[in-house]
Amino acid sequence: MTYLANPARYETMEYRRCGKSGIKLSAVSLGLWHNFGGVDVMENYRAIVRLAFDSGITHFDLANNYGPPPGSAEENFGILLKKDFAAHRDEMIISSKAGYTMWQGPYGDWGSKKYLVASLDQSLKRMGLDYVDIFYHHRPDPETPLEETMSALDLLVRQGKALYVGLSNYSAEDTAKASKILKELGTPCLIHQPKYSMFVRWIEDGLLDVLEQEGIGCIPFSPLAQGLLTNKYLGGVPDGSRASKAHGFLKKEMITPEVLLKIQQLNKLALAREQTLAQMALAWVLKDKRITTVLIGASRPEQLSDSLLCLKNTAFSSEELGTINEILRD
Ligand SMILES: NC(=O)c1ccc[n+]([C@@H]2O[C@H](COP(=O)([O-])OP(=O)(O)OC[C@H]3O[C@@H](n4cnc5c(N)ncnc54)[C@H](OP(=O)(O)O)[C@@H]3O)[C@@H](O)[C@H]2O)c1
Repeated sequence: MTYLANPARYETMEYRRCGKSGIKLSAVSLGLWHNFGGVDVMENYRAIVRLAFDSGITHFDLANNYGPPPGSAEENFGILLKKDFAAHRDEMIISSKAGYTMWQGPYGDWGSKKYLVASLDQSLKRMGLDYVDIFYHHRPDPETPLEETMSALDLLVRQGKALYVGLSNYSAEDTAKASKILKELGTPCLIHQPKYSMFVRWIEDGLLDVLEQEGIGCIPFSPLAQGLLTNKYLGGVPDGSRASKAHGFLKKEMITPEVLLKIQQLNKLALAREQTLAQMALAWVLKDKRITTVLIGASRPEQLSDSLLCLKNTAFSSEELGTINEILRD
């Protein structure tokens, strides 16, 4: 059926400025790591992307290797762009990344200029785009000089293939170094994409401070800890869930009795706040004004509708924060 975008899509979403840039991002962004690949069902992921756009989500996050198979999420997103969103490209912030293994041989991985330039060309072809809005280096490369990787990002912006650049999975120290190089090159870093949730809090120990000092936005990934911070695993591992899938990155072994106990306690607190656990987990990430947007995943449109309601209450009392810290303590 022909897609007609919801005319009221910008009325309820919150938009936050990304660091010290000119860009604002929707407070919730959609990631296409799982559930949008060649192994997935188009009518389902098409409904998720339509709902996202209809709800005011402007930012869609991809990477060269998302699938499986690698590359298929970009191909599928390209089809949706053509079928549903051709008239809306200028309302979207689309990102891609390179940094993990994408093709065989020494030029299909890590952080050389050769890899980054070739990879973005491939991503643009798969998505049918002239440019991406944000291009990331996906993970730090211990062997390639930082100057080379950053000059590759700068080159891609100068070539018009990316409008902005970002870093992902970089430590606070490496982010500060990379940001300095990028500023000198005249292509400041727009955004950093780290793993952050109630279960993974390393960015509180320095990275967030660096981002604030450097004027860089922050888009935490896996804010629901891949689904652990929802009520779905409270009664076991349901069929079709990420932990039940062979290609899912969440492994059953990660759902230990200790983790389950924390989820149960957090769920109780969420219910007392009149939120689902997913909503509370996202609100908890968004409570910090240094966070630009939460980068969520969804395997069904209903999950996205549920998660979006986190925006109704992102305030926490100091008592609630204390209780959460107590629950999360090892
Ligand atoms: N830069 C990096 O290195 C990196 C790494 C990982 C991810 N990312 C980015 O971050 C995005 C999000 O990562 P993620 O998918 O791990 O995020 P997430 O939001 O922590 O987990 C998403 C999963 O949680 C479950 N879920 C979502 N909403 C739910 C709800 N309301 N109720 C119950 N379950 C719910 C679904 O699992 P089921 O499938 O089990 O239903 C869904 O697939 C990725 O798509 C990607 O764009 C980046």
